[in-house]
Amino acid sequence: MSENRPAAVIILAAGEGTRLKSKTPKVLHPIGGRSLVSHAIHAARGTSPEHLVVVVRHKRELVAPHVAEVDPAALIADQDEVKGTGRAVECGLQVLPADLTGTVLVTYGDVPLLETTTLREMTAAHEASGNAVTVITSVLEDPSGYGRVVRDTDGQVLRIVEQKDAQRARDEGGEDAGALDIKEINSGIYAFDAQVLRDCLSRVGTDNAQGEKYLTDVLGLARAAGRPVRAHVVEDRWQSEGVNDRTQLADLGRILNERLVRRWMLEGVTVVDPATTWIDADVTIGRDTVIRPGTQLLGATTIGEDAVIGPDTTLTSVEVGDGASVVRTQAELAVIGPKATVGPFSYLRPGTELGAGGKIGGFVETKNAVIGEGAKVPHLTYAGDATIKEGANIGAGTIFANYDGVDKHHTTIGRHSFVGSDTVLIAPVNVADGAYVAAGSALTGDVEPGQIAVSRARQRNVDGWVARKRAGTKTAAAAEAAAAEAAASGATSAGDGTEATGTDEAGARHTHSQDEGSQA
Ligand code: UD1
Ligand code: CA
Repeated sequence: MSENRPAAVIILAAGEGTRLKSKTPKVLHPIGGRSLVSHAIHAARGTSPEHLVVVVRHKRELVAPHVAEVDPAALIADQDEVKGTGRAVECGLQVLPADLTGTVLVTYGDVPLLETTTLREMTAAHEASGNAVTVITSVLEDPSGYGRVVRDTDGQVLRIVEQKDAQRARDEGGEDAGALDIKEINSGIYAFDAQVLRDCLSRVGTDNAQGEKYLTDVLGLARAAGRPVRAHVVEDRWQSEGVNDRTQLADLGRILNERLVRRWMLEGVTVVDPATTWIDADVTIGRDTVIRPGTQLLGATTIGEDAVIGPDTTLTSVEVGDGASVVRTQAELAVIGPKATVGPFSYLRPGTELGAGGKIGGFVETKNAVIGEGAKVPHLTYAGDATIKEGANIGAGTIFANYDGVDKHHTTIGRHSFVGSDTVLIAPVNVADGAYVAAGSALTGDVEPGQIAVSRARQRNVDGWVARKRAGTKTAAAAEAAAAEAAASGATSAGDGTEATGTDEAGARHTHSQDEGSQA
């Protein structure tokens, strides 16, 4: 057993959180890509407790499965209809061995910035001092709403007085009449000796301003029994700050982000504009990577070294290799290989895998597309359900037509093959290695190695059409002028780079630069 390893951590998450005014239970609201309760679980799990319990009640059907997903080893305890933090802990103890000894930590599911180190330090202080109870406290300019810490002359904690009870004492007179003026507050995070916790909780009543079973009463009872109760003051007030409404959700989200961005900068990542950069808690970033303004790295995104991300890029659970460049891009559940380039204005949907040195360029959307090493999809393309093998090149404006209205179909483009611009690949289609598809094709069949497929209407030029059908227009005048100019300089044909091949009965001249391909 490692030193100061707690016997158990009990995380309280049964409360309703009405001030969020939400269908979603408070502890499931996320900041930094994790739910509030997930942050609490991560901090608690970091202390390597023998048991980790989450106490639930409000929207149990949503909270309990979420907890199981975040931490399958966590125990779920159900709080009954008796209200209060004391009752919540009592219910938590019910799923633990009845003879549990050692240190039991209590934390809240709605306090997301608490760190494992703080829990460890509290536990170490608690055990070193032989305390029955240790409570994390903070000194606040405005302590309203919190329980106030009443200290003895020797500095030990005598008891904690809740705001409402302090108000009542002020109005009706009593021992705690002056408690409202105390600026040291109870964070709600504690270390307890397991036996003291069990014994005292069984004696806690509900005779208070809120008619609840207060956990805070345990401190007064332990002290009255002559047991040492001490405070562990934490300067960083954000660590014990809870979320009660959506303004606090945003505030804590911003502070968490500042901490994460700072951490990555200290790890060797350049963040050009920390204020507009958002990095989720589970993201990892390699050294010498540059994050440009307006970038969000979300979910389980991992970025290698020497990459350039942004500006204005949102990556959700994307893997980016070393030296890759991802500019003005939206991507989710995609893999971008080392030295690959993406953007600007690219949209990578789930199942996109871009190989090393590959390219996804401007106004390209991809989905379930595996793009090989050095392959390029540079401009204005939709590639859905596609395999584009190593070194292949997809021309501008190519559409992988993967959906026939009922089913999705796959298209494969072989190694070092070329697809000409403005092609529709009507899946399922298989273009072999080393093949070409002529620009403007609507491809419905396979292409074998070494072939070119041309699947479009033959060009037909009708002489004199403008003069006959558009007489008197500026176009007709321009045609006349061009013809006169050509006659004067002795030129004979249109000279547009195409090759004249004959005239049919209708007087139309066919031109083409490539042979018509046949479908295999
Ligand atoms: C509690 C403390 C107060 C402290 C404050 C810090 C008590 C009596 N008071 O007050 O001294 O300053 O936290 O934020 O403990 N919960 C349950 N079951 C319940 C009630 C609450 O699981 O029946 C959970 C809530 O989900 C929440 C936490 O306990 O995570 C605190 O509950 P809350 O109602 O916010 O306590 P406060 O009245 O703010
Ligand atoms: Ca609270």
